[in-house]
Amino acid sequence: MIISKKHVVITGANRGIGLGIAKMCAQEGAHLHLAIRSQNPSLVKELIDLGAASVQIWESDLSQARDVEKLILNLNDVPIDILINNAGQLTGGLLENQPLDEINSMFQVNVLSLIQLTRGLLPNMIRRGSGKIVNNASVSAIMHFPCASTYAASKAAVLAFTDCLEIELKETGVSTLVLITPGIKTRMFDDIDTKYSDHLEVPQDSISTEEYAQQIKAAIFDDRSALMPKGLTAIGLWVSKYLPALFKFGTLRRFHR
Ligand SMILES: NC(=O)c1ccc[n+]([C@@H]2O[C@H](COP(=O)([O-])OP(=O)(O)OC[C@H]3O[C@@H](n4cnc5c(N)ncnc54)[C@H](OP(=O)(O)O)[C@@H]3O)[C@@H](O)[C@H]2O)c1
Repeated sequence: MIISKKHVVITGANRGIGLGIAKMCAQEGAHLHLAIRSQNPSLVKELIDLGAASVQIWESDLSQARDVEKLILNLNDVPIDILINNAGQLTGGLLENQPLDEINSMFQVNVLSLIQLTRGLLPNMIRRGSGKIVNNASVSAIMHFPCASTYAASKAAVLAFTDCLEIELKETGVSTLVLITPGIKTRMFDDIDTKYSDHLEVPQDSISTEEYAQQIKAAIFDDRSALMPKGLTAIGLWVSKYLPALFKFGTLRRFHR
């Protein structure tokens, strides 16, 4: 699918990967609908200057199901072509030390609001016979590290949800793309170090949000169902999937309680 002139919803578009995607879509001349926590006139101006056909901000706290419901109602009359479920939170550390309210909020944003928003916007896409749902998972959905127990569980849920939906949507004209996102230099990437590094040697390789947004653009254009990481991360992913004992052995050497 080409992005030019399409109506694109992006969650968590005010920073990080979401901002990179918003800028890329603006350069393609898309109509942008940004689900972020507060109004941001300078962001609107920046995206219009980059070439966006229009920019609308929908204030939404995605940890609140009521806000997601309001967002769905607001978007009911908009012919949404692409939904990019990107917003996410990170939990980490030894399970017994992770605050329960952080775990609950993370699941609400990473999993439940993603499902609720997809479920809410899907019927119009199916009716129109066209649409693309892009879900930002993570390498953590497949590569299971200590200290990432709850975050990895949330991203495994995103991957499973998207895989099921891909088949369910066969012949509707609506398709899915799951992002098996590797390390991208953002606030969350820096938080990984803070949250995990007391117990785990954290891999430091990362790419920029701009580079990743270009990879996402190509994956949407080619109608791919998954965007997989490249380079060293791709090798790690392969080992975790096909040689799990070796992966666990290597991970244990980098972990201490
Ligand atoms: N960076 C990586 O290495 C990496 C790797 C794998 C997967 N990912 C995934 O990529 C996605 C984007 O992450 P990022 O790296 O760009 O992180 P980030 O810079 O921390 O951005 C996270 C985004 O999610 C938004 N968000 C969080 N809680 C929200 C809430 N309750 N309501 C509305 N928006 C909320 C944030 O909004 P505020 O600014 O208002 O907090 C922000 O826009 C996430 O799903 C993450 O799990 C990232």
